[in-house]
Amino acid sequence: MNRPRIIEKLSGQVSEKRLAHCLRVESTALKLAPRFGVEPELVTPAALLHDFCREYPEELLLKLAANFGIVIDDIERKEPILLHGAVAAALVRAELGIDRPDILEAITLHITGGPGISNLTKVVYIADFIEPGRAFPAAVTLREESLYITPELLLLKVYNRTLNFLVARNYLIHPLGNAGRNELIMKGIVEN
Ligand SMILES: [Fe+2]
Ligand SMILES: [Fe+2]
Repeated sequence: MNRPRIIEKLSGQVSEKRLAHCLRVESTALKLAPRFGVEPELVTPAALLHDFCREYPEELLLKLAANFGIVIDDIERKEPILLHGAVAAALVRAELGIDRPDILEAITLHITGGPGISNLTKVVYIADFIEPGRAFPAAVTLREESLYITPELLLLKVYNRTLNFLVARNYLIHPLGNAGRNELIMKGIVEN
């Protein structure tokens, strides 16, 4: 599916504000892609479609997840918004015919990250955090740092900032993000 068609489909799913966010995630991800060795043709569909279901009500996310046979864990049951990636992946596969596993993984895991994720998934996960519409201080700093720090350190910093955010608000932490962060720490990646 070509880019104009993807944007047309996305426009029917999300607000103008969200569409603008998705376009900024795409351009940010395209800039990160060469450093991660990711092909731009994969970046565009994954980045544009990552929030395809972000504006669905919680009940609909739960219903669609059940219909698609997505296994719902306790944390997702309590915070169904966490399902917007997995449901989007299932929906774009069924309705838009996008079936590349790497694109579907990036859409599914853009919320939490996780251990063993592909470089495409890393690029979308990071871009979602640092895209230029993100005005909070951690995003501003990481946007600058993203130009020169190593990809692995950048990924660790996104995990750390996301966990800080969740802890500060007493939000639940999904184990996938924690496991993705642990994987980097085990490899000796540290913030200095
Ligand atoms: Fe999202
Ligand atoms: Fe997003």
